[in-house]
Amino acid sequence: MSKNVNRIILGIESSCDETAAALVKNQGGTFKILANVVWSQVKIHQKYGGVVPEIAARNHVKKILPIIDLALKKSKVDKKNISGIAVATGPGLITSLLVGVQTAKTLAYLWQKPIYAINHLQAHLYANWLNNQPIKFPAVCLIVSGGHTELILMKNQTQLKKISETLDDAAGEAFDKVSQLLKLGYPGGPIVSAMAERGDAKAFKFPRPMIQNNNFNFSFSGLKTAVLYASQKFSPKKLKSYKLKANLCASFQQAVVEVLRAKTIKAAKYYNAKTIMLSGGVAANQLLRQTLEQKTKKMGLKFLTPKPELCTDNAAMIAAAAFFTKPTPWQKIKVDPNLSL
Ligand code: KG4
Ligand code: ZN
Repeated sequence: MSKNVNRIILGIESSCDETAAALVKNQGGTFKILANVVWSQVKIHQKYGGVVPEIAARNHVKKILPIIDLALKKSKVDKKNISGIAVATGPGLITSLLVGVQTAKTLAYLWQKPIYAINHLQAHLYANWLNNQPIKFPAVCLIVSGGHTELILMKNQTQLKKISETLDDAAGEAFDKVSQLLKLGYPGGPIVSAMAERGDAKAFKFPRPMIQNNNFNFSFSGLKTAVLYASQKFSPKKLKSYKLKANLCASFQQAVVEVLRAKTIKAAKYYNAKTIMLSGGVAANQLLRQTLEQKTKKMGLKFLTPKPELCTDNAAMIAAAAFFTKPTPWQKIKVDPNLSL
């Protein structure tokens, strides 16, 4: 990475309901986050039980310039010392993505900087580089977010191959839907996992979807339905019980974590991985982090996961990914809501 010595990238992220900007410096291969500002719209969308695209986009428009300005101020970096601007171009909500991309293009044009079109999923992966730990390849990487659950094989730091994906709901989506059906609120992941800590993971016997299959794919929609059916066996009055809801959450979380662990470990063995990486919003889940770390270490492999705040959507990961990406002429930058790896 010698050509990346001493470069500072401004990262911009607006793919869903977080407006984020960050400045990341790469000093001879060592990453330093100079500023990382995330403005979450969670409170705005809470009353709707999920992200409303139109509202998300309008709020990105309001906040994107103040957030970039704040990140620049916090980093104390003068714009003339920025080497380039990185922006998430997909996957995500088209109207949200457009705000970040249009802003990045305008700034790149005005400041005469190169622009890096970043795949949001790849950026979740490259968040692992912000740990500044040596990474041995091949690496098997589990990306678990609100929209995706995928296993990626990395032969080196730029060669990525998708091994598997979810056939229906993503793991984060399942957390969000379980939270919704138990009327716990939005976003579901942090709420369900907090409830799960007080529950008994053996209280309900939920399925471990596709755990025995020969491939590495996932499926979580049946598991969510199993939680729905289990909850329907109780009267609305009984379902108000904190203990009952905590038990449902704990049993559900245990099933998700077991499937994610089993498939990741199976893939790591198959591909002779030296490292296992975990990233994406659901990687903030403590049980998942601990379970995968313990199992990885038992196998004598290296385990890497970003700090929880760098697992959920942020712009530091967008900037980090730029150090592994070639710039794109700004006229050619396009938003792709369905961009895949
Ligand atoms: O990566 P991310 O911030 O946004 C997307 O790219 O989708 O992931 C958001 C997802 C949501 O579904 C959220 O419920 C889930 O990550 N999540 C969690 C936790 N924190 C966030 N899921 C389980 N446990 C958590 N602690
Ligand atoms: Zn994400």
